[in-house]
Amino acid sequence: MATSAGSRLSLAERVRAPEAVEAPDDQLGLRWRPLGADDADAILDLVARSTAADRPMSAPSPAQVTDALDPARTMVMDSLGGFADGGDDDEAALQAVGVVYMPSGDTDIVRVFLTGTVAPAWRGRGIGSALLRWQVGRARQLLAADDRDLPARIATYVDEQMTERRQLLTDAGFRAKRVFQEMRRPVSAPLPEAPVSAGIRIVNWTRELDDEVRHAHNEAFADHWGSQPMSLESWRRVNREVEPRWSKVALARTSDGTEEVAGYAMTSRHQHSWVQLGFSEGYTELVGVRRAYRGHGIARALLVAVIRTLAEDGIDSAGLDVDTVNPSGAHHFYERLGYEREGARTLYTIEI
Ligand SMILES: CC(C)(COP(=O)(O)OP(=O)(O)OC[C@H]1O[C@@H](n2cnc3c(N)ncnc32)[C@H](O)[C@@H]1OP(=O)(O)O)[C@@H](O)C(=O)NCCC(=O)NCCS
Repeated sequence: MATSAGSRLSLAERVRAPEAVEAPDDQLGLRWRPLGADDADAILDLVARSTAADRPMSAPSPAQVTDALDPARTMVMDSLGGFADGGDDDEAALQAVGVVYMPSGDTDIVRVFLTGTVAPAWRGRGIGSALLRWQVGRARQLLAADDRDLPARIATYVDEQMTERRQLLTDAGFRAKRVFQEMRRPVSAPLPEAPVSAGIRIVNWTRELDDEVRHAHNEAFADHWGSQPMSLESWRRVNREVEPRWSKVALARTSDGTEEVAGYAMTSRHQHSWVQLGFSEGYTELVGVRRAYRGHGIARALLVAVIRTLAEDGIDSAGLDVDTVNPSGAHHFYERLGYEREGARTLYTIEI
């Protein structure tokens, strides 16, 4: 039906969700079913085979896979695994996986993210594009069922060197939306002095500080492109492998004599990735300084403190990623601190 000028279509109308979505055809050689907590080892085995071939900038850790499949999670998620029939070499092995999930807590735009992989030996047969069709169909259905009626986005990250996957996404109607640059520096490179003003001190992150840090993060990133408030569950998932000594919090004395969180640098130990990297690394997932405290060297002091502790702990490298068009100029700031570009991943999206 034609819409009169000025009227607005609801998300459920705009999203054009299919009534039914089909798993990839059995003719492609795999049998499909949703994945559950018991499949964690099979997923990690598939991820290891794909990682060896693709050498992605990051791969999910055992803890992240277990969390994603945890039946107690509240995050909306669906998945499909493709299993080969038992042969001599790969008895009923998992050869492809597609996941669709919605982070909880989005307030301005509802996002559905897609992740997945096809085992190297099973590529080139149309499985990836069939799986992507299922994922996009399910994403549309999840969005149609959401009652927030906001702008919406179906999104997935792709490493810049994965040209086949980028083509697959473009063919399916995705467009490159934003580029995130991966950066790292050896911790042994010289560090500048990083003084902070009186009334500010840098401490290690603790569980007791965690909720205040999460709120400071949601405030610092409130107008950061693509960012949405992190629920406790999303925050815990991102910081699942946080290393307290490598994560720093800037505390500021307030006029009533108490202290509040001014900024933070949350750093993880993704030890599962060190073998592929060939060195050890502390990976800073999130850096932020609340607006009222910006421009006083707090971010610089936080990162310098992170790097110094990594060096003390015998770790080789400090890593992080940054939105290349970050309006705070963060990417030049990291360069001035000695971080260098190691690669990039692009966020491909369908905007609805
Ligand atoms: C980026 C951010 C963490 C900087 O915090 P900050 O405490 O104000 O930063 P500092 O005072 O330590 O300054 C760090 C550097 O950034 C530069 N900088 C700070 N604000 C800037 C701005 N608005 N534009 C350009 N450069 C800026 C400073 O000159 C400084 O450079 P230098 O140390 O090489 O001289 C803060 O703006 C923020 O939280 N932004 C929103 C979240 C975000 O973008 N996080 C990074 C995501 S990758």
